[in-house]
Amino acid sequence: MSQIKIQANVLSIDEMLKYLSDTFKDEVTFSSSFSNEDQLIADKILRNNLPINIFTLDTGRLFPETYSLWNATNEKYNTHIKAFYPDHSSLENFVEEKGPNSFYESVENRKGCCYIRKVEPLKRALKGNSVWITGLRAEHSIDRNNMPQVEWDETNNVIKYHPLLHWTFEEVKQYICENKIPYNSLHDKGFVSIGCAPCTRAIKPGEDFRAGRWWWEDATKKECGLHVHVVD
Ligand code: ADX
Ligand code: SF4
Repeated sequence: MSQIKIQANVLSIDEMLKYLSDTFKDEVTFSSSFSNEDQLIADKILRNNLPINIFTLDTGRLFPETYSLWNATNEKYNTHIKAFYPDHSSLENFVEEKGPNSFYESVENRKGCCYIRKVEPLKRALKGNSVWITGLRAEHSIDRNNMPQVEWDETNNVIKYHPLLHWTFEEVKQYICENKIPYNSLHDKGFVSIGCAPCTRAIKPGEDFRAGRWWWEDATKKECGLHVHVVD
C-alpha cells in the first residue's frame, strides 16, 4: 500500500494506470457511471489499450441519455463495457413488497434500493480484483474532501485509486472538450452529478454539486453505499 501511495504522488495518471496494470496483472478494474470524470478515465485506459477492465452497474433505472452514451463509448473505442445487474429475485421481492418508487418514501427504502441495484452488484464486480479505480473527486462533497487518493477498502478488500481526486469540475470539463471525449447530453441541460433517473434532477445556478441527487433527502444522508471511506 505505502509503495502504491508513493507512486501515486510521483507518477502522472497515465503512468500510474500503467504501473497498476503491470503490477496487478488482470486484477485492476474501473467502475464507470459514464460521468465526465469516468469518461475521462475510460479514455485514458482505452486509448492506451491498458489491460484494465471497465464495468458499469446497470441499475435498470438509468437515463436514456446514459444508455446512449454507453453505446457511443462502445462504438468510439471499439469496446464492450461490461454491465453488472441486480440479483433478479432480490429485486423482484423488493419491488413486489415496496412498489417501484419506494425510494421517495423513506431513507431506509432508498438505501434498500441502492443496495440491491448497486452495492451488491458492485461486490460481484470487484471479486477477484486487487485494485478498484473510481472517478471520485474531493470537490463532490465534504465527505470526499478528506479522502486519500489511494485507500484500502475494507468492505471489498481492494485498493481504491481515485486519479481525479484533486481535479476541479472545470478542469475535467475542459479536458473532455479538448479531447473530444463523448459525454452525457444531460450536462447541457443543467445536470451535473448524474445517477439513476428518478433520483437525479438538474441543479439551479449556485446550488451544490450533489444537490440534484436524492434531492428530497437530508444532505448528510446522500451516499448510496458504494463508497465507504476509511481515512488512514
Ligand atoms: S454515488 O456513490 O453518488 O452513486 P457518484 O455518482 O458520485 O457515486 O460516482 C462516483 C464514482 O462511483 C464514479 O466515478 C464511479 O467510479 C462509481 N460509480 C457510481 N455509480 C456507478 C455505476 N452506476 N456504475 C459504475 N460505477 C459507478
Ligand atoms: Fe434505486 Fe434511486 Fe438508488 Fe437508483 S439511485 S438504486 S433508483 S434508490
